[in-house]
Amino acid sequence: MKHALVLTASFGLLVSTGSALAGAGEDLIASNKCSKCHTATTTKKGPSFASIAEKFKGKPDAVATLVDVLKTGGKVDHDTIKGSDADLKAMVEVVLSSK
Ligand code: HEC
Repeated sequence: MKHALVLTASFGLLVSTGSALAGAGEDLIASNKCSKCHTATTTKKGPSFASIAEKFKGKPDAVATLVDVLKTGGKVDHDTIKGSDADLKAMVEVVLSSK
């Protein structure tokens, strides 16, 4: 509960500060072990976050599509990741801002 409150507080902040968002998303990526299969810039088991950002560049529905991938596996049958929509969105935004 305490944790949830801290998260809510930081999400409130980032509406105005943007950079706090990356911090929260990066923490979530670390705690969800995305790095077992991804790094920002190199191909591991999964593609680099930078190449994913490149692939989805300019697609207005990129965030919604990728939140769905993490939540349900999507078309690519990705590992499903547990988390609130806000958490998943924060992680997707870090992925999409990688370069
Ligand atoms: C067990 C390995 C594994 C883990 C853990 C993993 N991924 Fe992936 N991910 C992949 C592979 C493999 C692909 C590329 C092929 C595919 O999409 O199935 C991928 C693709 C993606 C894509 C692009 C999907 C698309 O439609 O092109 C995103 C975004 C992504 N991962 C984000 C994450 C995030 C965020 C996490 C942590 C919450 C994570 N992944 C954890 C293996 C993994």
